[in-house]
Amino acid sequence: MTDMQRITLARRPKGDPVPEDFSLKTGPVPEPGDGEIVIEVSHLSLDPYMRGRMDDVKSYAPSVGLGETMTGQGVGRVIASKAEGFAVGDLATGMTGWASHAIVKATEARVLPAEIPSSLFLGALGMPGFTAWTGLRKFGRPKAGETLVVAAATGPVGAMVGQLAKAAGLRTIAIAGGPEKCRIATETFGFDAALDHRAYEDASALRTALAEVAPDGVDIYWENVGGKVLEAVLPLMNVGGRIPVCGMISWYGGVEDADDRLPMLWRSVLVKRLHVSGFIIFDHWDEYPEFLAEVPTKVLSGEIKHLEDVAQGLHAMPTAFIAMLKGGNTGKQIVAL
Ligand SMILES: NC(=O)c1ccc[n+]([C@@H]2O[C@H](COP(=O)([O-])OP(=O)(O)OC[C@H]3O[C@@H](n4cnc5c(N)ncnc54)[C@H](OP(=O)(O)O)[C@@H]3O)[C@@H](O)[C@H]2O)c1
Repeated sequence: MTDMQRITLARRPKGDPVPEDFSLKTGPVPEPGDGEIVIEVSHLSLDPYMRGRMDDVKSYAPSVGLGETMTGQGVGRVIASKAEGFAVGDLATGMTGWASHAIVKATEARVLPAEIPSSLFLGALGMPGFTAWTGLRKFGRPKAGETLVVAAATGPVGAMVGQLAKAAGLRTIAIAGGPEKCRIATETFGFDAALDHRAYEDASALRTALAEVAPDGVDIYWENVGGKVLEAVLPLMNVGGRIPVCGMISWYGGVEDADDRLPMLWRSVLVKRLHVSGFIIFDHWDEYPEFLAEVPTKVLSGEIKHLEDVAQGLHAMPTAFIAMLKGGNTGKQIVAL
């Protein structure tokens, strides 16, 4: 067997992560215990939530300890199994961490169908796609004729939110970083309009542009980013609007200048009687089979589009992660090993 490589948390970042916060370690490939499998990882997922796990703060999930392998989901082949239902050679997924090989408890792993490219289970057909599907249904409650706004619109969550909303008859408005992502948002993902958040110097300028492409106001603001975009959208919300609060990536590296205008803007929530629903996808996994019964055929037929941005090699995990947090990815960020 070859050696196992993994990337650990070397130190806690101050603000935005830098490559020195990570360390590459090599060692023997572990042997599975009873009820466990070993996965040889082919693709790893990079997700915004990993930034939060690098901080030593109380949250809905434990942080990564110093010297521990960075957390994350991977897919690959089972190369050893002491668990019923998993045979050597099966494709499987689980929380492998940022590693070339991983021991995963069978109860926390899943066999993947051979006929679907397995990296899809890290993006459109995995946690991000499922987040969009379940969050939109439960907390967005879309109705034909309404208007939806979502930022990080070409990422796996935003792209799925936009396409599901469009299919439900809504006007969909993308906010994305740069003209190329805006083009992808309209041409690939079918958004009715796309605005480049980088092109507007402040929330007020972005709001003016949004008001032009959302002349009937905004009924659903899918919250992925917080910051300038949130500040721009809130006053445009219609009475009875819904805000599924999925993430706020613009604040994940910390807030430099405590902006005291936002609390005042949140008054819109009260005045407009908005339904703001925070949610974390792991409370909803019991509905994943329903998602798998509906969405994979649409993704494989091209009815729902998806994009992957694939970096090469375990050593690329830190740089691809750092870039993704700043918008360097176009589509679901994956690393192929
Ligand atoms: N609640 C849950 O259970 C749950 C589950 C999954 C994901 N999430 C959240 O959903 C959001 C999207 O996740 P994803 O996996 O689809 O990410 P993603 O789109 O693949 O990657 C993050 C994107 O965020 C955008 N971004 C970064 N900084 C920004 C800023 N200052 N202003 C505006 N946009 C910025 C960038 O896109 P642009 O270049 O287009 O700006 C970047 O590409 C994240 O906030 C994530 O934490 C939550």
